Amino acid sequence: MIKFDLENLFKLEEHGLNLEDFNAQGEKIPLYLEGIFSKEVGFYEILDDDETITKIKEYAASVEGKYEHIVVLGIGGSSLGTICLQKSLGHMFNQSSPTLHVLQNIDPDLISDLEDTIEYSKTLFIAISKSGGTAETLAEYFYFRKKIESMGLHPAEHFAFVTDPNVGWLREMSQKEEIPTFDVPPNVGGRFSVLTPVGLLPTALIGLDIDALIEGAKKQRQRFLSTNFDENLSFQLATIQYQMANQGKNINVMYPYSERLKSMSDWYAQLLAESIGKTEEIGITPVSATGVTDQHSQSQLYMDGPFDKLIMFIKVEKFSKDLAIGYEEEGHYLSQKTFNQLMHNALRGTADALTEKQKANMTIQVNEVSATTIGELFMLFEGSVAFLGEFYNINAFDQPGVELSKVLTKQYLNESA
Ligand code: PA5
Repeated sequence: MIKFDLENLFKLEEHGLNLEDFNAQGEKIPLYLEGIFSKEVGFYEILDDDETITKIKEYAASVEGKYEHIVVLGIGGSSLGTICLQKSLGHMFNQSSPTLHVLQNIDPDLISDLEDTIEYSKTLFIAISKSGGTAETLAEYFYFRKKIESMGLHPAEHFAFVTDPNVGWLREMSQKEEIPTFDVPPNVGGRFSVLTPVGLLPTALIGLDIDALIEGAKKQRQRFLSTNFDENLSFQLATIQYQMANQGKNINVMYPYSERLKSMSDWYAQLLAESIGKTEEIGITPVSATGVTDQHSQSQLYMDGPFDKLIMFIKVEKFSKDLAIGYEEEGHYLSQKTFNQLMHNALRGTADALTEKQKANMTIQVNEVSATTIGELFMLFEGSVAFLGEFYNINAFDQPGVELSKVLTKQYLNESA
């Protein structure tokens, strides 16, 4: 369950949110929803694709116990959601079984360290690429494919693909061979694809609850599609971001007070940056911070620096455990307190200090970190970014700049000896 606490934003004089302007935007929900519908994007419809979800679960069941390592080969939208799911729902120190490694860089040192860790005969590589042709992902695929073949192992036993159903190199490959392949619907872009096999397949393979994830996302989708402003948190969030950006606060700091949610900020950074950064005038810069850690690193800037930021705290109401600090001394502020209390009061202290300094901040509250709430958060943010695209009258669903760098990389490789 997600709630917003906007009190601090409304409290601020010059740098806050004007209640009338905020509510006035709410009247335009039907118009902006129409705009999103007209683009025929699928990020909120994929949740109904029961067939794909069943296929993922059946595949996961069929390979249970077969692999010790799952290695995702993918980058950007093809890796960040999976990392977020792994970090937020998995154990933070113990590895899952099988262990999941997401190789989202081509740094040779990273690849060789991975090789020191895995045993090829017990490893499944999942090449994930919406376009099916991203150089980094293909390079990793070629590399590991050669290794698998050189060991006399069968590629169909050690690879799976997640890609567009019709186009791209991976798709062509899958048509020639027996490699298990899962589709990313053509109308779902990379950074909106976490709830397709892109995020669901690796997650299911390490035993996380993809049904609960989808259930949470569906709950939030209902709100995203609602024309009631109080209900529609995605629309409210986009309105806040837009109105703040119009005041020059076009840096958004996502600041979860939760170690589990740390990677949510990284996933969100791509979603926001690639979707909204489209012209020299339009763009919101995402920044990732984690509470309480960054209170002792970035906070000084947020407190006393320029009025160019909106701080979006995420507060987890209930952590999975209540953990007593175990100190008892009358009059000491830590006496008989829990880490939970320390975390919550640190957040409160930081938010109130920012407010005293007239710095824009709001809090997104989640009751707990679970597959359901992670599903809700994904849909909340995807919906808000879709609305932001409409407010700015831009296409939030393409990424011409990223495409250009991909084209140039290929060109330079062709030119180099
Ligand atoms: O959002 C996007 O479409 C991109 O950032 C992609 O996620 C990223 O470039 C990887 O592309 P692909 O999944 O096609 O390999």
